[in-house]
Amino acid sequence: MNLKKLKTAWYPLCRSKDLGKHPKPSKLLGEPLVLVRLDNKSVHCFRDVCPHRLIPLSLGRVVNGRLQCGYHGWEFDGEGRLQNVPGISKRISEPVSEQKQQQQDQYQGLSEDVRQNTCQKSCQNLYNDPKQPLVKYPCHEQAGWIWVNLTQNKPPPTIPQRFQPQTGFDILMTFRTFEADFIHAIENFLDPVHTLFIHRGLIRNVGVQHLKYRQSHDEHGFTTHYTMVNKQNGLINKLFDPGVTVNIARFQFPGLASIAYCKGETVLFEVVLFFIPMDKGEVGMATNIYIAKHNKDKLPAWLKFGVMRPFIELVFYQDKKILATQLSAKNSANTLAGKPFADKNPYQSTSADLVIDHLVYLLADGAEGVDKVGDMVLDVD
Ligand code: FES
Ligand SMILES: [Fe+2]
Repeated sequence: MNLKKLKTAWYPLCRSKDLGKHPKPSKLLGEPLVLVRLDNKSVHCFRDVCPHRLIPLSLGRVVNGRLQCGYHGWEFDGEGRLQNVPGISKRISEPVSEQKQQQQDQYQGLSEDVRQNTCQKSCQNLYNDPKQPLVKYPCHEQAGWIWVNLTQNKPPPTIPQRFQPQTGFDILMTFRTFEADFIHAIENFLDPVHTLFIHRGLIRNVGVQHLKYRQSHDEHGFTTHYTMVNKQNGLINKLFDPGVTVNIARFQFPGLASIAYCKGETVLFEVVLFFIPMDKGEVGMATNIYIAKHNKDKLPAWLKFGVMRPFIELVFYQDKKILATQLSAKNSANTLAGKPFADKNPYQSTSADLVIDHLVYLLADGAEGVDKVGDMVLDVD
C-alpha cells in the first residue's frame, strides 16, 4: 500500500455522538491515537502515548478541560502541553528569575541546592519547554463524524459529498472495526460475484441473475454502473426492494465506497462506507446508510432502519468472517513463502474481478486499471 499517499487523507474515525466525556482510543495507519473532547466541546487527537511512562492516554480522563493520564496524573491541555505534574508544584517549577520577582514564598526555607534540583532539573523543562510533549494531529468534527489526518498543518477536510447528510433521505450511521486486508475489504464490498456464495439467499439466490455493467475511472476513483436484466432474487430484495433497476457502485480515494440502488435515475437507497486503514490487518468502517423519504411513507426512520438492521448485520457478519479467513490465509502464505507477501501479487484474477486492478492502482501504485464493459450472468444451481 502507498502509505505516504494514504497518510495525506482525512478519515472519519468516530461518530460525534460516540465521543462523550471520556477519551477514546483509535488507530490510523498503525499510529495509536486518542480522541478527546476537552471543555465538553472542542475535539482533539493526540498520539495515544503518555510521554512519562508510555501508558495510553485513552485510559485516562478529562479533568478541568485537560487530558489526565490514568497512571500518575500528568495533565495536558488542548495543544498537548504539559500543565500539571502531581507531586511537583507548578509555582516552584517556574524559572528562578520570575520566582524572585514574584517573591513567592515556596522558596523560603529551601536551600539553593534544593531549589535548583526541584526547579531546573525535574520539571522546569517540562512546564516551560516550548515543544509539545504530546504529538497532536489535525482533528475536525463535521457531518456527524470526527475526522483525523496524520499530516501536520492540514487545512480542515472537505467532506466528500456522498458522506454528508442528503436532503430527502433518512440516515443511519454506524462504525465498526474488523480484521481484514484493507484493499480486499473494499473489493469485497464492491464485488457482485461473492454475494451468490457468501450471502446466498440473502442478497442473491440460485437461478439466473443477469447484469450488464460498464466502468469508468479517473485518478481519484472509479464507478461501475450495473443494469439489472432480471430482478435481484435474494430475501432482502423480496422484502425491501421497491423496484431497483440500476446499481451504481463507486470508489473514491482513500476509502470511500458506495452502492446506490436506483429505480431508473432515482436513488432509493444508498450504502456509503468509508474504509479506514487502522493498522495492518485491521480495518475500520464508517457507514452512512441513506433511505429515501417518500411522501406517502409514514414509517419513521428509526422503524425503517430497525426492520432492516438485522439483515444488514447478518450480511456484515458473513463478510467479516470470510475477510478474517482471507487475512489468515494471506498471513500463512507469507510464512510458507518465507518472504513478505507484498513482494509479489499471488492472486489470480479474471475479468469477473471487476475492481481489483483499479483499487491496486489507487492504493498501492499498481498499473492503471482497465475499465470493463460487459454482461455478467450468475447462474448457479
Ligand atoms: S505514565 Fe502517564 S503520568 Fe505516568
Ligand atoms: Fe459481501
